[in-house]
Order: sequence, then C-alpha cells, then structure tokens
Amino acid sequence: MNAQIGKFSRLGFVLSATGAAVGLGNIWKFPYITGVYGGGAFVMVYLVTILLIGASLLIAEMVIGKRGQQDCVSNFETLSPDDSKRGWKYAGFTLFTGLVIMTFYSVVIGWIFYYIYLTFVGLPTSIDDAKAIFDQLYGHKPFLQIFFHLLSVLFVGGVLLGGIKKGIEKTNLILIPFLLFILLGLLMYAMNFDSFEKAVHFMFAPDFSKLSSEAIIRAVGHSFFTLSIGIGSIMTYAAALPKKAEIYKAGLMVAFMDTFIALIAGLVIFSFLFQFGGEPAKGPGLVFISLPVIFAKLGMTGTVVAFVFFLAMAFAGLTSAISLVEPSVMYLEDRLSWKRKKAVIWSSIVYFIVGVLVVFSISDGYKDWLTFGTKSLFDVLEFSVDSFLMPLGGILIAIFVGYVMKRDIVEGELLGHMGNTVFKIWYFSIRFIAPLAVLFLAYNAMKI
Ligand code: PHE
Repeated sequence: MNAQIGKFSRLGFVLSATGAAVGLGNIWKFPYITGVYGGGAFVMVYLVTILLIGASLLIAEMVIGKRGQQDCVSNFETLSPDDSKRGWKYAGFTLFTGLVIMTFYSVVIGWIFYYIYLTFVGLPTSIDDAKAIFDQLYGHKPFLQIFFHLLSVLFVGGVLLGGIKKGIEKTNLILIPFLLFILLGLLMYAMNFDSFEKAVHFMFAPDFSKLSSEAIIRAVGHSFFTLSIGIGSIMTYAAALPKKAEIYKAGLMVAFMDTFIALIAGLVIFSFLFQFGGEPAKGPGLVFISLPVIFAKLGMTGTVVAFVFFLAMAFAGLTSAISLVEPSVMYLEDRLSWKRKKAVIWSSIVYFIVGVLVVFSISDGYKDWLTFGTKSLFDVLEFSVDSFLMPLGGILIAIFVGYVMKRDIVEGELLGHMGNTVFKIWYFSIRFIAPLAVLFLAYNAMKI
C-alpha cells in the first residue's frame, strides 16, 4: 500500500468504520422501513440478523482486509492459498459497487443539504406544503439537485485527497462524536415527551402477526446495507490497520454503534411523530415530509432541532460516502499505480456523471429516456445493489474466509482475542449460516 496515505490509529479505525456503517441507512431508511413494516417484530428480526449474521460477516471482511493490507482485488488474490485459486481476485471487483451506490447516495445527501438550507429560509408548515416542496425538488428541480449533489461530491473528494490519516481518520474523529452528541441530545429532548413511551412500545414490543415474509427479507437485507457489508468498504479500511491491531473487538464495537444509533434515530423520530400527530408508515418521505412540518410547528426551537437533525444526517451520510469511494481509489492507486489525486478525481467524475443521470431519471421532462420498464434508473441502481451486488459481495466474503483462506491464518487474526468457543461459533456462522442467509435473501429479493 502507498505509505504516504498513512495508517489508522485504533480509535481512528473504530470511528471511521463506524462512520462507514452509520449512514443514511440508519437515520433515513431504518426508521421508515420500521414504520412501514409495523415496528417491534421487524426490529426484532433486524437485531437477530445483525447478531447472528451481520456482525460475523463484518468481522470476516475485516479479516481479509487486515491480513491482505492492500486493495480488495489484491487481497483476494494474495490470500488465495494456491495459484489455481487466483481467480478469486475477481471477487475483489465488488469494490466498484461503492461507486454504483454513490450515484444515488450522493443525490440523497444533496437533498439533506437542501433541507439544511430550508431551515434558514423557512420550513413548510403544513403536510401539503411539505409534500409540495419535496415533490418539487424530487421531480421538478433537477438542476438544484445536481448542484447539491456536486457539493457532496466535492466534500467527499476533498476528504479522500487527504488520505487515510489526514483525510478519512481526521474527518471521522470530528464528525462521529458530533453526530453522537447531536443524536443523544435529541434523545434527551424526546424523552420529555409523553409519547416517548409509545415510541418505545412501537419499536420494541413485537407483534408477530404483523411480520410478513417481505418484512423478514427487508430486515435481513437492511442489516447488510447498514453494516456496509460486501462491497469492500470495511475491507479497505481494515487494510490500513497496523499489522498488530486486533479486529474482533473493533468489529463488535462497530456493529454495536451502528445498531445503537439506528435505534436512537428511530426512537427520536417516532417520539416526534406520535407527539405531534404524524403517521409512522409514511415511507421514504418520513424524514423529508412529516418531520419538517413537526419541526416548523415548534417555532424557533423547532428550527434549531431541524437544523441539528439534518446536520447529523448529513454527517452520517458523508462519512459513509467517503467509505464508498475509498475502495476504488485504493484499487486505482495500488493496481494501476495512479497518483491518489488522479484516482480521486476520476472516481468522483464517474459517479458524479451517473448521479446526474439518476437525477434526470426522476425528473419530469427527462425521465422517459431513463426509465427501464417501470423502473427509473434510480430504482434500477438501488434495486441491483440491494438484491444483487451486496448479497453477492457478502456470500463471496463468507465462502472465501470460511473455505478458501487457510484456517490457521484466520485463527491467527482472531483466536487470541475471541477464545476457542466464540471462534467456533463465529466460524460456523461464516461457513454455514451466513451463506445460506444470503442465498435466502437473494432468492426472495428477486420475487419482490
Ligand atoms: N452503511 C451505510 C448506511 O447505512 C451505507 C453503506 C453501504 C456504506 C455500503 C458503505 C458501504 O447508510
């Protein structure tokens, strides 16, 4: 690896991997799918999946990165035990999924920037207004969206130029504690509401009669997305760990933080909704339509709350975005010997341009050219990530660590920290449970 870009410190790694994991998935998607799928029982499935499969795969991905110390393609290649298995290097190409995700992820970060701007000029005060504002932005203002998308591209590119130590680690060391602080502050505020208890009940009292098979698939799929599994983000970060670092506790910590933050975000959002009369099952518009109206009703306090809430969301999104692009940058540097600057600029240009097409694919007047069947380019990309690219990356990681890598190498990374029993359980999960769960997910996702 290029020595100039530096290595993570222990805290820097944990916070950066937490930054990768905690993203729009936690603050935007988790609360709204919890609302759509009826609360408690859905949350229960999500928690069990994180514990049984998600955390194991996260640690497995860290094992590959930490042991390989290079870009994803080289990691798979050099960790294959003999030449006949070198074909495994192609598994490393899942690293480009990050750029695919960025084509729409950065657009959504752009929406958040727009809502931060709205907190200064005035939030919508009725649901109809809020819907109109969101629909206007979403369907009718492509150039505004492109402008904010560009801001996000520039921010992410700027951080990446700084390398691991001065760019990624430094940014996460500042933004992640800030994010935690804001969310805990909002939680304290929400705990004063009468409806806080109702929110707790909604999220944690399972009503299994509400649990459809679609809900289960969503919960499993989301546990992958939220932990950033299967596209090389975590692997690439782990590759920048010093050789002596341990990854077991770091992995658990990241899984814990990610879950903790999703649950806090859910509690805050549902407390506000129940307190001020919003519907939980509102879908993707939950934070962009229902919440702003509630905040606007609270006057000046509401404006401040709205500002910090959207700021927290932007921080969460940006720290994930950085981890989505770094695998490509590292690949271009390591394998093609590009300078970091060139690698960052070209990766950014690619996803910026496709992101522009994504914006047009949902905009009136342009969308007809960019719709395939009934799906816009936005939907096509999101769907292929959720139901194909990420499960594929996940299963490749499980098979590689469980069956291809030499067991003593895997043990060398983990046994001393895990102890025998935990290692056995983890290894079993990687060899049997995780691959089956991924197959189940991919198979059923096709049917939705
Ligand atoms: N985990 C991030 C989120 O919850 C998204 C992400 C996926 C980031 C894959 C990196 C890699 O928003």
